[in-house]
Amino acid sequence: MKTVTTLSDLRAARLSLKGTVGLVPTMGYLHEGHLSLIQRAKEECKHVIVTIFVNPTQFGPNEDLSKYPRDLERDLNLIRPLGVDLVWNPSAEGMYPSGYQTWVEVEAMTRPLEGAMRPGHFKGVTTVVAKLFNATQPDRAYFGQKDAQQAAVIRKMTQDLNFPLEIVVCATVREADGLAMSSRNKYLNEDERKAATVLFRALSAAKELYEAGEMDAEKVRGKMKEVVTSEPLAQMQYVSCADYDTLEELDVVKGKALLSMAVFLGKTRLIDNFALG
Ligand code: PAF
Repeated sequence: MKTVTTLSDLRAARLSLKGTVGLVPTMGYLHEGHLSLIQRAKEECKHVIVTIFVNPTQFGPNEDLSKYPRDLERDLNLIRPLGVDLVWNPSAEGMYPSGYQTWVEVEAMTRPLEGAMRPGHFKGVTTVVAKLFNATQPDRAYFGQKDAQQAAVIRKMTQDLNFPLEIVVCATVREADGLAMSSRNKYLNEDERKAATVLFRALSAAKELYEAGEMDAEKVRGKMKEVVTSEPLAQMQYVSCADYDTLEELDVVKGKALLSMAVFLGKTRLIDNFALG
Protein backbone atom coordinates (compact mmCIF):
# COMPACT_ATOMS: atom_id res chain seq x y z
CA MET A 1 0.00 0.00 0.00
CA LYS A 2 1.49 3.29 -1.11
CA THR A 3 0.71 6.52 0.75
CA VAL A 4 1.23 9.84 -1.04
CA THR A 5 0.61 13.48 -0.17
CA THR A 6 1.35 15.62 -3.21
CA LEU A 7 -0.72 15.74 -6.39
CA SER A 8 2.32 14.91 -8.54
CA ASP A 9 3.07 11.77 -6.49
CA LEU A 10 -0.60 10.80 -6.66
CA ARG A 11 -0.63 11.20 -10.45
CA ALA A 12 2.55 9.16 -10.86
CA ALA A 13 1.16 6.37 -8.65
CA ARG A 14 -2.23 6.45 -10.44
CA LEU A 15 -0.50 5.94 -13.83
CA SER A 16 0.83 2.59 -12.64
CA LEU A 17 -2.70 1.26 -11.82
CA LYS A 18 -4.01 -0.58 -14.88
CA GLY A 19 -7.60 -1.86 -14.93
CA THR A 20 -10.66 -0.65 -13.00
CA VAL A 21 -10.08 1.74 -10.13
CA GLY A 22 -12.48 2.25 -7.22
CA LEU A 23 -12.24 5.45 -5.16
CA VAL A 24 -13.32 5.72 -1.51
CA PRO A 25 -13.19 9.40 -0.48
CA THR A 26 -13.05 9.91 3.30
CA MET A 27 -12.24 12.52 5.90
CA GLY A 28 -10.38 9.91 7.97
CA TYR A 29 -10.99 8.68 11.51
CA LEU A 30 -12.30 5.58 9.80
CA HIS A 31 -15.00 3.30 11.19
CA GLU A 32 -16.77 0.11 10.05
CA GLY A 33 -18.88 2.14 7.61
CA HIS A 34 -15.78 3.34 5.71
CA LEU A 35 -14.24 -0.14 5.84
CA SER A 36 -17.40 -1.61 4.28
CA LEU A 37 -17.07 0.89 1.39
CA ILE A 38 -13.44 -0.16 0.90
CA GLN A 39 -14.39 -3.86 0.99
CA ARG A 40 -17.13 -3.29 -1.61
CA ALA A 41 -14.69 -1.35 -3.83
CA LYS A 42 -12.18 -4.16 -3.46
CA GLU A 43 -14.79 -6.74 -4.56
CA GLU A 44 -15.78 -4.72 -7.62
CA CYS A 45 -12.54 -3.10 -8.82
CA LYS A 46 -9.02 -4.25 -9.63
CA HIS A 47 -7.47 -1.39 -7.66
CA VAL A 48 -8.68 0.74 -4.75
CA ILE A 49 -7.66 4.30 -3.88
CA VAL A 50 -8.65 5.78 -0.51
CA THR A 51 -8.39 9.52 0.07
CA ILE A 52 -8.11 10.95 3.58
CA PHE A 53 -8.69 14.69 3.69
CA VAL A 54 -10.59 16.76 6.25
CA ASN A 55 -11.97 19.23 3.72
CA PRO A 56 -12.05 22.71 5.30
CA THR A 57 -14.43 24.19 2.71
CA GLN A 58 -17.35 21.98 3.75
CA PHE A 59 -17.30 23.18 7.38
CA GLY A 60 -19.19 26.32 8.40
CA PRO A 61 -17.54 28.99 10.59
CA ASN A 62 -19.19 27.60 13.76
CA GLU A 63 -18.65 23.93 12.95
CA ASP A 64 -16.15 21.37 14.22
CA LEU A 65 -13.26 21.68 11.69
CA SER A 66 -10.50 22.26 14.26
CA LYS A 67 -11.66 19.48 16.58
CA TYR A 68 -12.69 17.00 13.85
CA PRO A 69 -10.93 13.74 14.89
CA ARG A 70 -7.73 12.99 12.98
CA ASP A 71 -5.38 10.00 13.37
CA LEU A 72 -3.57 9.04 10.17
CA GLU A 73 -1.54 6.16 11.69
CA ARG A 74 -4.71 4.58 13.09
CA ASP A 75 -6.45 4.97 9.69
CA LEU A 76 -3.52 3.44 7.77
CA ASN A 77 -3.44 0.47 10.18
CA LEU A 78 -7.15 -0.12 9.59
CA ILE A 79 -6.82 0.13 5.80
CA ARG A 80 -3.62 -1.92 5.37
CA PRO A 81 -5.19 -5.41 5.75
CA LEU A 82 -7.89 -4.60 3.18
CA GLY A 83 -5.62 -4.68 0.12
CA VAL A 84 -5.86 -0.95 -0.75
CA ASP A 85 -3.36 0.05 -3.46
CA LEU A 86 -3.02 3.75 -2.83
CA VAL A 87 -3.85 6.25 -0.07
CA TRP A 88 -3.85 9.97 -0.88
CA ASN A 89 -3.62 12.28 2.12
CA PRO A 90 -3.30 15.76 0.59
CA SER A 91 -2.65 18.91 2.61
CA ALA A 92 -5.18 21.76 2.76
CA GLU A 93 -2.61 24.06 1.08
CA GLY A 94 -2.09 21.50 -1.70
CA MET A 95 -5.81 21.22 -2.30
CA TYR A 96 -6.58 24.94 -1.98
CA PRO A 97 -3.40 26.91 -2.76
CA SER A 98 -3.42 30.62 -2.05
CA GLY A 99 -5.56 32.44 -4.63
CA TYR A 100 -7.86 29.45 -5.11
CA GLN A 101 -11.21 30.62 -6.58
CA THR A 102 -13.00 27.85 -8.49
CA TRP A 103 -16.12 26.13 -7.13
CA VAL A 104 -18.55 23.43 -8.21
CA GLU A 105 -22.15 23.94 -7.09
CA VAL A 106 -25.28 21.81 -7.53
CA GLU A 107 -28.33 24.09 -7.20
CA ALA A 108 -31.89 23.07 -6.18
CA MET A 109 -31.03 19.74 -4.56
CA THR A 110 -28.62 21.35 -2.12
CA ARG A 111 -31.16 23.89 -0.77
CA PRO A 112 -33.28 21.75 1.61
CA LEU A 113 -32.29 19.55 4.59
CA GLU A 114 -28.52 19.62 5.28
CA GLY A 115 -28.09 22.44 2.76
CA ALA A 116 -30.57 24.63 4.67
CA MET A 117 -28.88 23.96 8.02
CA ARG A 118 -25.30 24.14 6.76
CA PRO A 119 -25.01 26.97 4.20
CA GLY A 120 -22.09 26.42 1.82
CA HIS A 121 -21.55 22.83 2.99
CA PHE A 122 -22.43 21.14 -0.30
CA LYS A 123 -20.45 23.68 -2.35
CA GLY A 124 -17.40 22.52 -0.38
CA VAL A 125 -18.32 18.84 -0.79
CA THR A 126 -18.94 18.98 -4.56
CA THR A 127 -15.82 21.07 -5.15
CA VAL A 128 -13.53 18.71 -3.28
CA VAL A 129 -15.17 15.57 -4.72
CA ALA A 130 -14.79 16.97 -8.27
CA LYS A 131 -11.11 17.63 -7.51
CA LEU A 132 -10.70 14.10 -6.10
CA PHE A 133 -12.36 12.63 -9.22
CA ASN A 134 -10.11 14.66 -11.53
CA ALA A 135 -6.97 13.68 -9.66
CA THR A 136 -7.69 9.98 -9.17
CA GLN A 137 -9.66 9.23 -12.39
CA PRO A 138 -11.72 6.37 -10.88
CA ASP A 139 -14.13 4.06 -12.68
CA ARG A 140 -16.35 3.86 -9.59
CA ALA A 141 -16.64 5.98 -6.44
CA TYR A 142 -18.17 4.70 -3.20
CA PHE A 143 -20.29 6.71 -0.75
CA GLY A 144 -22.43 5.79 2.27
CA GLN A 145 -26.23 5.98 2.37
CA LYS A 146 -25.97 7.64 5.80
CA ASP A 147 -25.22 10.90 3.98
CA ALA A 148 -28.17 10.36 1.61
CA GLN A 149 -28.37 13.97 0.38
CA GLN A 150 -24.61 14.06 -0.20
CA ALA A 151 -24.83 10.86 -2.28
CA ALA A 152 -27.73 12.27 -4.33
CA VAL A 153 -25.95 15.60 -4.88
CA ILE A 154 -22.72 13.87 -5.96
CA ARG A 155 -24.65 11.63 -8.33
CA LYS A 156 -26.23 14.74 -9.90
CA MET A 157 -22.87 16.51 -10.20
CA THR A 158 -21.38 13.40 -11.83
CA GLN A 159 -24.19 13.30 -14.41
CA ASP A 160 -24.27 17.05 -15.05
CA LEU A 161 -20.48 17.38 -15.47
CA ASN A 162 -20.15 14.12 -17.45
CA PHE A 163 -17.62 12.50 -15.15
CA PRO A 164 -17.08 9.06 -16.74
CA LEU A 165 -17.63 7.04 -13.58
CA GLU A 166 -20.28 5.21 -11.60
CA ILE A 167 -21.43 6.36 -8.15
CA VAL A 168 -22.03 3.38 -5.84
CA VAL A 169 -24.05 4.04 -2.67
CA CYS A 170 -23.62 1.47 0.11
CA ALA A 171 -25.95 0.68 3.02
CA THR A 172 -25.48 2.46 6.36
CA VAL A 173 -23.48 0.39 8.85
CA ARG A 174 -24.98 0.48 12.36
CA GLU A 175 -23.94 -0.35 15.90
CA ALA A 176 -25.82 -3.26 17.54
CA ASP A 177 -28.36 -0.80 19.03
CA GLY A 178 -29.07 0.86 15.67
CA LEU A 179 -26.88 4.00 15.95
CA ALA A 180 -25.45 4.77 12.50
CA MET A 181 -21.64 4.67 12.51
CA SER A 182 -20.08 8.13 12.25
CA SER A 183 -16.70 9.64 13.10
CA ARG A 184 -18.66 12.20 15.19
CA ASN A 185 -19.98 9.47 17.55
CA LYS A 186 -16.60 9.79 19.24
CA TYR A 187 -17.70 13.15 20.70
CA LEU A 188 -20.63 11.62 22.66
CA ASN A 189 -20.33 11.11 26.42
CA GLU A 190 -21.81 7.97 27.97
CA ASP A 191 -25.32 9.40 28.50
CA GLU A 192 -25.42 11.07 25.09
CA ARG A 193 -24.29 7.82 23.46
CA LYS A 194 -27.25 5.98 25.05
CA ALA A 195 -29.66 8.75 24.02
CA ALA A 196 -28.27 8.80 20.46
CA THR A 197 -30.30 5.69 19.56
CA VAL A 198 -33.24 8.12 19.40
CA LEU A 199 -32.53 8.76 15.69
CA PHE A 200 -32.86 5.06 14.86
CA ARG A 201 -35.91 4.73 17.15
CA ALA A 202 -37.65 7.70 15.54
CA LEU A 203 -36.94 6.53 11.98
CA SER A 204 -38.09 2.98 12.85
CA ALA A 205 -41.33 4.25 14.41
CA ALA A 206 -42.07 6.42 11.35
CA LYS A 207 -41.33 3.54 8.99
CA GLU A 208 -43.62 1.28 11.00
CA LEU A 209 -46.41 3.87 10.77
CA TYR A 210 -45.95 4.10 6.99
CA GLU A 211 -45.89 0.31 6.66
CA ALA A 212 -49.16 0.15 8.63
CA GLY A 213 -50.71 2.24 5.82
CA GLU A 214 -50.16 5.90 6.85
CA MET A 215 -49.54 7.97 3.70
CA ASP A 216 -49.92 11.45 5.22
CA ALA A 217 -46.34 12.76 5.25
CA GLU A 218 -47.11 15.28 8.02
CA LYS A 219 -48.21 12.43 10.29
CA VAL A 220 -45.04 10.49 9.43
CA ARG A 221 -42.93 13.58 10.27
CA GLY A 222 -45.06 13.99 13.44
CA LYS A 223 -44.15 10.48 14.59
CA MET A 224 -40.42 11.23 14.22
CA LYS A 225 -40.84 14.52 16.14
CA GLU A 226 -42.77 12.75 18.91
CA VAL A 227 -40.02 10.16 19.44
CA VAL A 228 -37.13 12.68 19.26
CA THR A 229 -38.78 15.17 21.64
CA SER A 230 -39.45 12.36 24.14
CA GLU A 231 -35.66 11.99 24.61
CA PRO A 232 -34.55 14.63 27.15
CA LEU A 233 -30.92 14.80 25.92
CA ALA A 234 -31.90 15.22 22.26
CA GLN A 235 -32.55 18.49 20.50
CA MET A 236 -34.22 18.10 17.10
CA GLN A 237 -32.92 20.30 14.30
CA TYR A 238 -35.17 18.96 11.53
CA VAL A 239 -37.16 15.89 10.52
CA SER A 240 -38.11 15.33 6.91
CA CYS A 241 -40.22 13.06 4.75
CA ALA A 242 -39.18 14.01 1.22
CA ASP A 243 -39.21 12.74 -2.33
CA TYR A 244 -36.21 10.41 -2.69
CA ASP A 245 -34.87 12.03 -5.86
CA THR A 246 -35.76 15.73 -5.63
CA LEU A 247 -35.58 15.90 -1.79
CA GLU A 248 -38.70 18.13 -1.78
CA GLU A 249 -40.98 17.70 1.24
CA LEU A 250 -43.99 15.49 0.50
CA ASP A 251 -47.67 15.93 1.42
CA VAL A 252 -48.49 12.33 0.54
CA VAL A 253 -45.97 9.49 0.76
CA LYS A 254 -45.97 7.76 -2.59
CA GLY A 255 -43.19 6.26 -4.69
CA LYS A 256 -39.74 6.29 -3.16
CA ALA A 257 -39.34 8.60 -0.16
CA LEU A 258 -36.53 9.56 2.21
CA LEU A 259 -37.08 9.91 5.95
CA SER A 260 -34.23 11.93 7.41
CA MET A 261 -33.31 13.99 10.44
CA ALA A 262 -30.60 15.96 12.21
CA VAL A 263 -30.49 15.87 16.00
CA PHE A 264 -28.12 17.43 18.53
CA LEU A 265 -26.95 15.36 21.50
CA GLY A 266 -25.23 18.02 23.58
CA LYS A 267 -22.90 19.77 21.10
CA THR A 268 -22.75 16.80 18.71
CA ARG A 269 -24.91 16.95 15.60
CA LEU A 270 -25.93 13.56 14.20
CA ILE A 271 -27.86 12.73 11.02
CA ASP A 272 -29.56 9.54 9.88
CA ASN A 273 -32.13 8.41 7.32
CA PHE A 274 -34.25 5.51 6.06
CA ALA A 275 -35.54 5.01 2.52
CA LEU A 276 -39.23 4.13 2.07
CA GLY A 277 -40.89 2.42 -0.86
O1 PAF B 1 -18.55 12.06 3.48
C1 PAF B 1 -17.40 12.54 3.67
O2 PAF B 1 -16.60 12.02 4.44
C2 PAF B 1 -17.01 13.82 2.94
O3 PAF B 1 -18.10 14.67 2.80
C3 PAF B 1 -16.33 13.57 1.58
C4 PAF B 1 -17.27 12.91 0.60
C5 PAF B 1 -15.09 12.70 1.78
C6 PAF B 1 -15.88 14.91 0.97
O4 PAF B 1 -15.01 15.59 1.81
